[in-house]
Amino acid sequence: MHASDIEGDLTEVLVTESEIHAKLAELARRIEADYEGRDLLLVGVLKGAVMVMADLARELRPHLNMDWMAVSSYGAGTQSSGVVKILKDLDTDLTGRDVLIVEDIIDSGLTLSWLLENLRSRGAASVEVCALLRKPDAAKVEVDVRYLGFDIPNQFVVGYGLDYAERYRNLRDVAILAPHVYS
Ligand code: IMP
Ligand code: MG
Repeated sequence: MHASDIEGDLTEVLVTESEIHAKLAELARRIEADYEGRDLLLVGVLKGAVMVMADLARELRPHLNMDWMAVSSYGAGTQSSGVVKILKDLDTDLTGRDVLIVEDIIDSGLTLSWLLENLRSRGAASVEVCALLRKPDAAKVEVDVRYLGFDIPNQFVVGYGLDYAERYRNLRDVAILAPHVYS
């Protein structure tokens, strides 16, 4: 789905598909250098990180493993509740592993700081974060993000995996959702 297909639902395209791909290539080169000679485990956070994971993983040239977790912090609304629930846990034992959490967006930071603590308690050798987007003005807790794509304004965005009420995930770009859609 292109932004032009749903023009009336969006107020602005913030990051285009090609900007995303260029940025992921840049991050992939840094990740390759930092993890040289180590066995990397990418942990994707469902469902929003599916697109980031798919494109980042294919951009990375060495062998790697992928696993998935599903957590929920939002329900169907647009405001973080701070309540994190594991809907699907990892299949992989993290003992001694170098883990890179792959996230779509850091909003309040509550989900990720909870996840970091949870994964670190499982005996991993290292746990770092790669996030495509971050809203600095929405931060309630500081999260140390090693690999960041873009800082964006504190607005509700959709596309490239990000949803509103389970829609818009298949939009190619990241765009601000028009308020009339959710009010
Ligand atoms: P946090 O706990 O407030 O940082 O929220 C993290 C999760 O909320 C993300 O992984 C997204 O799934 C969701 N989220 C936060 N902001 C947005 C947004 O602007 N659009 C869509 N989903 C969002
Ligand atoms: Mg998410």
